[in-house]
Amino acid sequence: MFKKVSIDPQSLKRSAAKVAAGLVESGMTVGLGSGTTAAEVVRCLAERVRDEGLKLIGVPTSSATATLARELGIELRDLDDVEALDLNLDGADEVDPDYRLLKGHGGALLREKIVASAARRRVNVVTAEKLVTRLGSTMPVPVEVSHFGLAHTERRLKDLGAETAVRRGDKGQMYVTDGGNVIIDCRFPPIDDPRALDLQLHGVVGVFETGIFVDLCDEVVVARAAGVTIERNRPKP
Ligand code: A5P
Repeated sequence: MFKKVSIDPQSLKRSAAKVAAGLVESGMTVGLGSGTTAAEVVRCLAERVRDEGLKLIGVPTSSATATLARELGIELRDLDDVEALDLNLDGADEVDPDYRLLKGHGGALLREKIVASAARRRVNVVTAEKLVTRLGSTMPVPVEVSHFGLAHTERRLKDLGAETAVRRGDKGQMYVTDGGNVIIDCRFPPIDDPRALDLQLHGVVGVFETGIFVDLCDEVVVARAAGVTIERNRPKP
């Protein structure tokens, strides 16, 4: 008889995070993503700083990541104090076969997208259940919008066919991002053309950013029960 062994999701994240942290070389400037997987990457990097004397400068994508990295002794800079990033290490909520991502379940999408766009190499770390055929299969698209005119912006998003919900915190209070904005979660049917939808959403006045990331991922570190693999979007020249 075979005994079914279930692997704890946290240890899967941890194994993938370790592989991702292994991509960092001394002297690099590295974008530090947000969310539980990115937090594991930060912990693994801090271990390398402590155990191997790895030198890196981290650029955090959220105040939560900044606090964690600082507590663990990682040197940090603001994005505008560095010229470019050698590498960006972040999580994702969904990854499609063309390496397009859905992000922002944790609310850090705007800063995450700005930091990813400043990086020469973008790596996202996920567990295998986040690989989807089409974005929007498992969650709505987070859209960061201005607090001012929220009801009007929400109506425009509904006009695009979204089922909308203004994101709220545990106690029912409106969720506020690090940038002081709010998030409307927009549920669409699974998305055929993420780039087109992203552009359409950006056409709504009051929208600052969306959780659809196109052309912002070069590699995905995937954790499966069978092991961790690095899957590349396109061969490096
Ligand atoms: C944060 O806003 C997100 O974009 C995260 O990268 C994403 O939600 C993945 O988070 P977990 O690693 O916690 O699943």
